[in-house]
Amino acid sequence: MDSIHRSKIKALLTMEPGAEVLAKGWVRTKRGNKQVKFIALNDGSTINNIQVVANAELFSEDLLKKVTTGASLSVKGTLVASPGSGQAVEIQASEIEVLGECDPMRFPLQKKDTTLEFLRSVAHLRLRTNTFGAVLRIRNAMAFAIHKFFNEKGFVYLHTPLITESDAEGAGDMFQVTTMDLKNIPLDKKGNVDFSKDFFGKKTSLTVSGQLEGELGATAVGEIYTFGPTFRAENSNTPRHLAEFWMIEPEMAFYDLEDNMELAEEFVKYLVSYALDNCMDDLRFLNDKYDEGLIERMQGVIGIPFQRVTYTQAVEILEKAVADGVKFEYPVHWGTDFQSEHERYLVEKYFGKPVILIDFPKDIKAFYMKQNEDGRTVRGMDVLFPKIGEIIGGSEREASLEKLEARIDELGMSRRNLEWYIDTRRYGSVPHSGFGLGFERLLLFVTGMANIRDVIPFPRTPKNAEF
Ligand code: 4AD
Ligand code: MG
Repeated sequence: MDSIHRSKIKALLTMEPGAEVLAKGWVRTKRGNKQVKFIALNDGSTINNIQVVANAELFSEDLLKKVTTGASLSVKGTLVASPGSGQAVEIQASEIEVLGECDPMRFPLQKKDTTLEFLRSVAHLRLRTNTFGAVLRIRNAMAFAIHKFFNEKGFVYLHTPLITESDAEGAGDMFQVTTMDLKNIPLDKKGNVDFSKDFFGKKTSLTVSGQLEGELGATAVGEIYTFGPTFRAENSNTPRHLAEFWMIEPEMAFYDLEDNMELAEEFVKYLVSYALDNCMDDLRFLNDKYDEGLIERMQGVIGIPFQRVTYTQAVEILEKAVADGVKFEYPVHWGTDFQSEHERYLVEKYFGKPVILIDFPKDIKAFYMKQNEDGRTVRGMDVLFPKIGEIIGGSEREASLEKLEARIDELGMSRRNLEWYIDTRRYGSVPHSGFGLGFERLLLFVTGMANIRDVIPFPRTPKNAEF
């Protein structure tokens, strides 16, 4: 049967009728009557199925019975023009082999529409649905586009460690990594845990960010980016937080905040354009099924300059909104960290476009951000998107050795563990900047999915690490 080369369904759907073809895939649906069966076959290469026409005369009843939703098939036949609407060609089958049967009584993904919530409980199989096929292909396209973007700009892809001693963001929500026997933890004379007995001889955790090592790279080869998993033990059960998520962190020597904002804006616009140019079949499917405004919203952000506004101006806008009767769940005044309701108000209601917020109070931002002359704000930037809120967080970095050390002390952080980082400011310090794009936040935007658990194949959230 395999003397003909197998074609992917994506390719078959664009071929001229007449050829002898071999297709392999999984059955989405089967319908028809005693004389003829119509099988919708999908192999994951595209959201679209190819229709296989099986004349009952050619195939035993026993074989056709095994062609059920979820079963895998190898199908040989002639590609013919399709009289039905919806597809140009279909396969008139001459040989069908059932590669793997799929018990219709037990297979959880039947034709009837299932909720996204139910699908999360069968995340090992949900990848087989149209929805997750579309999400996975877009996810793949975005990962490729990210590497393409930076490669074309001459950035170096830097691999930063996942196991680390430092809490880059200072939020203290790290997953500890240890090989110690939890039933028999070694203690020192004072009764504290003796980490010298642990695998690395010190207390280690999974990283919350590759930035600090990224800065070492940027101050060596100029412009780098990281792209890897990061881990945060925040106990936030929201549609926008994961305990394990992927982040892209470019870091650039000689960039000030202005340059940083320009790069961030160009970067996300490039990615959204790439999705529109390369993933239209999947986008149309998701647009029609989940989010009617998806494609329009994507086109909207690439066409306009983002709004730049300082934190202080944004607080004034939000305070005025509250005075005018807008109700927020969380209070807002100078010094508070914005909640996503505030971010979305600014983006969706007030400006009607993506917003770049800058110059935050230093007390709500990490130790490494460049301090402004006013003594109370830092050169941070958050990029806020419609429906998502914060999609990017970044800053110009504090390049002055004295100011950096003073800030570390002020926050009561240990300088000893950070000497390697502080060395960047001792030896040839340069102005530099960077930011982090949350990969799954980007995917929320370019898939229209409402819950971050539905844009990563195997989500990790509090009390959920199955599959
Ligand atoms: O704003 P964050 O915490 O910034 C950093 O980690 C910096 N070190 C980045 C840098 O300057 N190199 O995180 C960056 C982005 C956020 O804007 C958000 O998109 C995403 O990472 N993010 C999360 N995504 C999913 N789940 C979570 N729990 C996330 N926390 C942050
Ligand atoms: Mg942030």
